[in-house]
Amino acid sequence: MTLTNPGDRVATPEPETVTTGLAGRLEVHDNRTGRVYDLPIEDGAVKARDLGQIRAPDEEHGLFSYDPAFLNTASCRSAITFIDGDRGILMYRGYPIEQLAAGRSFLDVAWLLIHGELPTPTEADAFAEAVRAAGDLPEGIVRLIESFPRSAHPMSVLMSAVAALGAYHPEAKEVDDATLRQREIPTFLGSMASVVGLVFRHFQDRSLTLPPASHDYARTFAANLFSDGPDATLDPAIVRAIDVLLILQADHEQNCSTNAVRAVGSSRVDPYSAFAAGIAALYGPLHGGANEAVMRQLHEVGSVDHAADVIRKAKTGEHKLMGFGHRIYKNYDPRARIIKQTAEEVFKVTGTNPLLDVAIAIEQAALSDDYFVSRKLYPNVDFYSGLIYEALGLPMEMFTVFFAASRLAGWTAQWLELIQDPEQKIARPRQIYTGPTRREVPPA
Ligand code: CMC
Repeated sequence: MTLTNPGDRVATPEPETVTTGLAGRLEVHDNRTGRVYDLPIEDGAVKARDLGQIRAPDEEHGLFSYDPAFLNTASCRSAITFIDGDRGILMYRGYPIEQLAAGRSFLDVAWLLIHGELPTPTEADAFAEAVRAAGDLPEGIVRLIESFPRSAHPMSVLMSAVAALGAYHPEAKEVDDATLRQREIPTFLGSMASVVGLVFRHFQDRSLTLPPASHDYARTFAANLFSDGPDATLDPAIVRAIDVLLILQADHEQNCSTNAVRAVGSSRVDPYSAFAAGIAALYGPLHGGANEAVMRQLHEVGSVDHAADVIRKAKTGEHKLMGFGHRIYKNYDPRARIIKQTAEEVFKVTGTNPLLDVAIAIEQAALSDDYFVSRKLYPNVDFYSGLIYEALGLPMEMFTVFFAASRLAGWTAQWLELIQDPEQKIARPRQIYTGPTRREVPPA
């Protein structure tokens, strides 16, 4: 089975340039008052706050910018992840995702996202050891996971377990203490690998005793999911595929869940609570939950013969084509391309997922259909990831749990950046009130 299809022919762009917006000035003429305002443009943006000085007489407040769903609003300055959606470029701290996925481990990438530079060998060793040691969960967390009915969705359990970790780490409430913040980082990642393993084992009614953790995070992660004893062997190709999947989904700038982590974290709550909010956001089918939704859709389609039907329904609005489209990418999602290559490696070990043919047929049909072409709808990271998860033996409900474990690295980096950013305050958007004006309550 070869994965060649129209998406492969989209050339990988050279990710050498990062264009930041130009500085300048914006002259605004308010025709309600005849006044002219001179607003600074910095980094290609005007400050919404500067709009506040534009005010008509008798207005309660100055001009707002109205931007439901943040289509055109930068909520922060960030030095972590760069995306050029038109050219299909993704870089973490300036390093192209293709190079990181090809030659680095998830822990190296997590360190990079969090600290800004790749770790030295000494730093990498110390970090790996700290993360490994943090894998031991409090007994209460194990009991909590165990208490959930097996009919619960694993994302609900993950969300609860991560929120509950905050109760066992009261020191994490000291978000303004830089030393404590740094000390907590390995605990986030180490706990997550264990929680994910336990959630999966609970749903499979397997032993909740995890195998010994190693310095290789992907190996520990894989063993927690799939091994039932210290001697169990894991195919290196599978472990590498898990590493790559963890890297690819580790950060994606201000997506819905990261925005949730930042918004909740801006109240200076402990990071576990902020990450639980991120997990809640990721759970949704338009965000991380899309990987599960894609696989449900592929199962529904069932065979290549029905690929045209799923496309037709997407065009008439009967459903969305899951795993297609992205707010930022208007080109092939670079992560989807790498995931397809990774799928090839995994399928050599596990055998091909029969739904791969269906996925390829859908992609081919979509990429040559004017509806998708004119709207620049390409496969996103979730379109092919589920095929790998399924081949690895994960049920659909676990797909987004995996994604959350990966994204925790990005949430950590983004949360730390937020906490240290002097421009940030509690996130509190304004509204345009559309309700009734004052009226009197009639007698009961
Ligand atoms: N199937 C059919 N039509 C679509 C799709 C799709 N998957 N995605 C967008 N469109 C259409 C949409 O109906 C609209 O058409 P029109 O201009 O005629 O009204 C146009 O394309 C623009 O879409 P939009 O909904 O305004 O775009 P958005 O930026 O608000 O939404 C999205 C982005 C990812 C939520 C959306 O593309 C979608 O729902 N995709 C399916 C779910 C999915 O795969 N989500 C994973 C996203 S990537 C990973 C992650 O974030 O976790």
